[in-house]
Amino acid sequence: MLRRLHHTQPESFAFTPANLAWAEAQITKYPEGRQASAVIPLLWRAQEQEGWLSQPAIEHVAHRLGMANIRVLEVASFYFMFQLQPVGSVANIQICGTTSCLICGAEDLIGVCRDKIAEKPHQLSEDGKFTWEEVECLGACSNAPMAQIGKDYYEDLTAQRFAEILDELAAGNVPVPGPQNGRYASEPKAGLTSLEGYEESGHTKYNASVQRATDIGDTVKRIDGTEVPLLTPWRDKTAKAAKAAKPAAKPAPAAKATPAENKDVDKSATATGSKPATLETARDGGADDLKMIKGVGPKLEKLLHSMGFFHFDQVASWTAEEISWVDENLEGFKGRVSRDDWVAQAKLLASGQETDFSKRAKY
Ligand code: FES
Repeated sequence: MLRRLHHTQPESFAFTPANLAWAEAQITKYPEGRQASAVIPLLWRAQEQEGWLSQPAIEHVAHRLGMANIRVLEVASFYFMFQLQPVGSVANIQICGTTSCLICGAEDLIGVCRDKIAEKPHQLSEDGKFTWEEVECLGACSNAPMAQIGKDYYEDLTAQRFAEILDELAAGNVPVPGPQNGRYASEPKAGLTSLEGYEESGHTKYNASVQRATDIGDTVKRIDGTEVPLLTPWRDKTAKAAKAAKPAAKPAPAAKATPAENKDVDKSATATGSKPATLETARDGGADDLKMIKGVGPKLEKLLHSMGFFHFDQVASWTAEEISWVDENLEGFKGRVSRDDWVAQAKLLASGQETDFSKRAKY
């Protein structure tokens, strides 16, 4: 298939402020002079923001990375994951047409696309909401046939169910992804033949991928950068580099401690974000076992205690600004709160529910 720039292009492209901050943080991952290594993440972010890659977007990325436009166009036109033409405002539907899916009914799904979206792939539907394309194996062969819609997989599809899903999406709803035939994951269709006790062991409502997808809820949403805190573990390199460039600059004074705050931590506290409320000690009944949060080990738990965090509900209540503050001030563990999404985990744990990790961690 010939992959070239679309005949109709927008006037300009700009990252949203949040996506720009994210892109700049990505660039800091690479040594000076090697910024071109960030070309795929930046192109991908541009596509996540707009749905497709326009010429202005490609040139914007080239300019930001100090690359020739043609070099970035070569990357964008080489990889099929980059869409070089406008996609549906709701979603670009990707139907797997490889062996397992093909023999299980992928052609019927493509028939639905032709009926309900457009005769040819990459053509916008009349209402502009959808486009579709056939893709190679997406690695969900045991749940064939399947389609990727937005960021999630819809599996064990029939033509009828797939048509319903398109109608639901067109109406502004996001159907629950994953198997559509009642299967939990990819167990045998006739039921489990081993690990039979697992079903009674109180697993999450959906399998891990679907649970995560429904928890995040951004299946077909365009990414504007505000979804997750932008701080990244490597981001403080930028601050260090800036400091090195200005040797005369005085270090910023540490945040002022309140009486309830731990003094050792406050000495090194940075002013990024806003500091969440802390406790001097755990409430009656003792601290929660913060190690039930994936990514928190004994050392990190001790550090959290020293900062005044003892309970799941404290973590669960952190705002984006507060997450930024904690991420920046976890000495030796910067960025862990957002990396492992502690807040979502803590919300479940605070309400007495389990996470997949906490269930495993108890045994
Ligand atoms: S063959 Fe369709 S997911 Fe692998």
